[in-house]
Amino acid sequence: MALINHLKWRYATKQFDSSKKLDEENITELLKGMNLAPSSMGLQPFEFIVVQNEELRKQLREHSYNQPQITDASHLMVIAAKTTISKKYVEDFISRTAQLRGVSIESLQGYQDMIMGFLDGKTDDEIFTWNQKQCYIVLGILLSLCAEMKIDACPMEGFIPEKYNEILELHEDNLHATVIVALGYRSENDDYADLEKTRHHLDEITSLRY
Ligand SMILES: Cc1cc2nc3c(=O)[nH]c(=O)nc-3n(C[C@H](O)[C@H](O)[C@H](O)COP(=O)(O)O)c2cc1C
Repeated sequence: MALINHLKWRYATKQFDSSKKLDEENITELLKGMNLAPSSMGLQPFEFIVVQNEELRKQLREHSYNQPQITDASHLMVIAAKTTISKKYVEDFISRTAQLRGVSIESLQGYQDMIMGFLDGKTDDEIFTWNQKQCYIVLGILLSLCAEMKIDACPMEGFIPEKYNEILELHEDNLHATVIVALGYRSENDDYADLEKTRHHLDEITSLRY
């Protein structure tokens, strides 16, 4: 299966070749794919921030345990969770769905009530955690897209989210940097590329209850 081979090819890239840059078309393609990630109730409680600016990335690296991928990769993708989900956000989602599907907003009232009921039953912290979980689905899709497009990537949680929020002014949009991905092309000198993957045997982590 082609995707399995692509996934074997990919690895969390430690050293990028900073002379090699992704085309803007690649970035657009990745964003389109990320936008197709499923999310709970379809709410997409996240946004994507693409950082290329060198000065910004220098600052971000200082708050990423000085990991070189931040500045040496071609681009840095920040997947940011919404800190809240407002009633207005849900109403906009419903009206967009109605418009795209050619149905009335009234016909989706039950769905809207179900979403609002679900959100009302949760604390702010629970909603924020839920939003952050959705970001990881996007992460999985992005890494698979990269593998298929032969773009190297390093998923990263080794950064201080609050500093990212500050530097990228995410607070203002009620966003929180959740997980980041350095994107680009591997350096020939990255020894990690040839390491055998450490994974469980399938039977250690799988049980079939047919
Ligand atoms: C959520 C997440 C956070 C990670 N954070 C970092 C990180 O901050 N720095 C880094 O070099 N690698 C990071 N990694 C990469 C993992 O160490 C790597 O995926 C794992 O060791 C498996 O290796 P492979 O991806 O090369 O197959 C992260 C991976 C994930 C999924």
